[in-house]
Amino acid sequence: MTIGTCYFPEHWPRERWETDVKEMADAGIEYVRMAEFSWAELEPERGEFDFAWLDDAVELIGEHGMQAVLCTPTATPPKWLVDEHPDIRQEAQDGTVKDWGSRRHYCFNSPTYREETARIVTAMAEHFADDPHVAGWQTDNEYGCHGTAHCFCEDCSAAFRDWLRERYGDAETLNERWGTSFWSQRYDSLDQLEVPQPTPYNHHPSHLLDYNRFSSDSVIEYNRLQADLLRDVNDEWFVTHNFMSEYGGVDVNEMREDLDFAGWDSYPTGHVQEADRDLRDAEFRVGNPDQLGLNHDLYRAPDAPHWIMEQQPGDVNWPPHSPQPGEGAMRLWAHWAVAHGADEVLYFRWRRCREGQEQYHAGLRKHDGSADRGYRDADAAADDLDDLDLDPVEADVAILHDFENMWALGPDRHSPDFSYWAHLKTYYRALRARGATVSIVSQSADLDRFDAVVGNTLYLADESLAAHLDDYVTGGGDLLLTMRAGVKDRANQLHEELTPGPLANLVGARVDQHESVPEQIETRATYDGETYDYRTWAEWLDADAAAVVGRHETGTAAGEAAITRNEVDDGSVTYVGLWPEADLADRLVTDLLGRADVPTTDRLPEGVRLAERDGLTWVGNFTEGAVGVDAPADAEFVVGDETVPSFDVSVVAAPAHELTVE
Ligand code: GAL
Repeated sequence: MTIGTCYFPEHWPRERWETDVKEMADAGIEYVRMAEFSWAELEPERGEFDFAWLDDAVELIGEHGMQAVLCTPTATPPKWLVDEHPDIRQEAQDGTVKDWGSRRHYCFNSPTYREETARIVTAMAEHFADDPHVAGWQTDNEYGCHGTAHCFCEDCSAAFRDWLRERYGDAETLNERWGTSFWSQRYDSLDQLEVPQPTPYNHHPSHLLDYNRFSSDSVIEYNRLQADLLRDVNDEWFVTHNFMSEYGGVDVNEMREDLDFAGWDSYPTGHVQEADRDLRDAEFRVGNPDQLGLNHDLYRAPDAPHWIMEQQPGDVNWPPHSPQPGEGAMRLWAHWAVAHGADEVLYFRWRRCREGQEQYHAGLRKHDGSADRGYRDADAAADDLDDLDLDPVEADVAILHDFENMWALGPDRHSPDFSYWAHLKTYYRALRARGATVSIVSQSADLDRFDAVVGNTLYLADESLAAHLDDYVTGGGDLLLTMRAGVKDRANQLHEELTPGPLANLVGARVDQHESVPEQIETRATYDGETYDYRTWAEWLDADAAAVVGRHETGTAAGEAAITRNEVDDGSVTYVGLWPEADLADRLVTDLLGRADVPTTDRLPEGVRLAERDGLTWVGNFTEGAVGVDAPADAEFVVGDETVPSFDVSVVAAPAHELTVE
């Protein structure tokens, strides 16, 4: 388990590089990522390549016993290229062209840009083909960042028509699958289709869903072009990509198939400010352990590690506020990543840059080259992690997460308070607060390896999903299905049968009514004899095979069934027709874990979490005060001890459920 950094040698005088690289090695850094925005340096004029500077940097890195991770520089096509081919630029929905002068200004479907991509990727790959110091590659940089997974240019409309032809064959089939008799939206020919244009009111939901699928496929295809070219040149290289926090533009589950492993970029004090709730003071200093854990558990594939391609090094430029991270936070984040399955954590960036858009972004070193707070933390993390050689995380529980459900629910939120991620996090947080180890996987994943499964808003459902879940439950699995399951078919039309459509037999109940409820209206339900608050969404259930285990207590829904449980052979299906607040979520998940014989901890305090990997448990303290850990007498503390100071971590050789934290 090692650490690394992201370095931009092109920003610094050549005479400085040696010092930089030596200081990296001194801190225990093993991987150095470079070149993701350097096209203009690598090819100052068409066909005139200059690799000498990057050769020198790679050589220096190798001489100091480290490995280089190179990036393809396609996130920033240079000025000469954009001037030659202005048609490669992205277009916003209102027709605004996203011009050169920042980054990510290219369209994934531009045939010209795909040719140019192949040219630069091949040139770079061939140049470094036999370089022993290059370990692998990152393709591009953060596909879809700044809202760029979606483009509305003519190339995209043409590619969208091809995509639809492949999927539907003819207009008649599309009309039938989408349901276009509504508001005279029928097409006479697939040639009439376009990416969604500016319209007076909202778009047809099936059109939008397919446009999202198409956009994601476009990025996946573009990435595959790069990955294949790199592997053709040297199949020993790993190929990865740096995804983003809770990102939704690209189907990561699918794109991961083309990568050796996934990476993501972790900026804890920035991401946490995107939350739809009030933050604790400490969260501004260190982020939230569940918010970070969720992304680790999402980007990690079952049985495979993931990497952090960019780890926040100190204060950053882009969130609304940027308080200095708490003392030790940068070390804690590296530990937290490893605890959740990462094998490598690269800090972004090596040194605060004196030029360009990110001068208010810290590095491990200050802009005069001296050590910053992050350097000391990274050094300490490298010392702690150096001796660890860990197997992948094994999770007890899976949360099913599918991008299509998120896309379909986007225009169907039906309440300003509904948020796909916030709802998923209710269950994630509750599971983690009981010490459970969680994986976030696609609904088609192999479920047998998990003791319990939470099916999160399985909005689009078909018979094959029903059969897959049925196999899991009849095989003894315990399943919790959340609200808004089985509402629509894959084309985004309501099922002919009442919700949850094809999942109704499994659930043993149907949804009679649904409602979205504003915050000012009281929403309480009983569950197992106690009363709990819920929020935003309520379904009234008609149970047949299932037992009613929770009822609405307030409003027009009072007395109606809200939560049901269907015992099926050795397994069970709990259906939750509301969005539980934390206490009810806790009860629901403890019951689920109890049924599945997953041992739990006492409910952990806010900001304190446990993460288990390969026989070790990390106690992460994301709060401003110290916490105490009570571990079995013979459990060794590999890092730290029974007192975990603020923004610090202890690592104990014992399973999570044997620890008590106060
Ligand atoms: C990431 C991006 C980096 C840098 C960083 C700043 O999203 O990949 O290039 O901009 O944010 O925090």
